[in-house]
Amino acid sequence: MIGDPVGHTLSPRIFAWLFAHLALDRHHYTAFRVPPPELPAALARVRRGLLSGLSVTLPFKEAVIPLLDSVDAPARRFGAVNCVVRGDDGLLTGYNTDAQGFRRAVELGGGQLGGARIVLLGAGGAGRAAAFAAVAQGASRLVIANRTRERAVRLGLDLVDEGIAVPDGPLRTAWTESGRPPLPPGGPIPALCRVSVAPLHAKALAPALAGADLLVNATSVGLSDPTSDPLPPGCRPEPGALVLDMVYRPLRTALLRRAEAEGAIAVDGQWMLVYQALEQLRLWTGRAVDDGAAAALHAHLGGSGP
Ligand SMILES: NC(=O)c1ccc[n+]([C@@H]2O[C@H](COP(=O)([O-])OP(=O)(O)OC[C@H]3O[C@@H](n4cnc5c(N)ncnc54)[C@H](OP(=O)(O)O)[C@@H]3O)[C@@H](O)[C@H]2O)c1
Repeated sequence: MIGDPVGHTLSPRIFAWLFAHLALDRHHYTAFRVPPPELPAALARVRRGLLSGLSVTLPFKEAVIPLLDSVDAPARRFGAVNCVVRGDDGLLTGYNTDAQGFRRAVELGGGQLGGARIVLLGAGGAGRAAAFAAVAQGASRLVIANRTRERAVRLGLDLVDEGIAVPDGPLRTAWTESGRPPLPPGGPIPALCRVSVAPLHAKALAPALAGADLLVNATSVGLSDPTSDPLPPGCRPEPGALVLDMVYRPLRTALLRRAEAEGAIAVDGQWMLVYQALEQLRLWTGRAVDDGAAAALHAHLGGSGP
């Protein structure tokens, strides 16, 4: 793994557990702190065969893209690479495993993305991965709420440009103002996800949360701060809705505690972390583990069941 800093990462523990579980005795996984100017040199070492792959964390998830030989289509759409695979020819390919981790974490909590009405907080790399995964899996409605409106609008318009969503609410206005072709008359096409944007304010979010099946936090609010909650006061998830917080340090975030108090189902970010790591394992080694092993790994990291 390369990043800066890497001191708090759980990934070495995850892969040590997985390599032991699968008896991959000759595999090793180590975190390297790489100062940003040394990123090209770090990739050159992988190209030379000193390493067979990389996990990529902040601040390199975007910066690594132009240094790779190819980037698979989803990672390019998300604008973020978190996994690099070295081919036998020495060429480096970038992937993003967050979408897969997100989808599996939702399923594990008993939810499904098909037909879901979703409120997504955040529009950074992880938010983009969640949004594309949700819409590609057939979500029926997605409201993207982000501190910086332009980033939410860009994500919403990217989903529409992809042909998998139609703009709704304020995103329709943004679509028209962007100079794109006029929208067909007759309202949203039922088969496509209706995507809208909202500010991170209770007044805008409360109506979106009413009837939402899934609330996702893909902001970094709550990271290393058990009192910070990305959901503004004055709005709440529906009882029975699934609330997935991508933040996993602390494990029980303020948002998840609030979700449980409201009768929602809380899924901690460590589940997504585990499942996105399993996808990295598959890309590097072709090996997989079952859900029972994933749960044992989650417990090993200090988590409990959703
Ligand atoms: N569990 C997992 O497997 C997993 C995987 C990936 C990421 N994550 C976590 O997900 C979070 C986002 O990661 P990322 O890679 O998407 O980061 P990123 O690209 O830097 O995006 C950060 C997001 O957080 C928002 N944000 C930051 N500070 C905020 C504040 N004070 N108030 C409101 N919004 C704020 C940003 O809004 P602006 O656009 O306004 O800046 C943006 O939407 C991080 O906590 C990361 O650890 C978890």
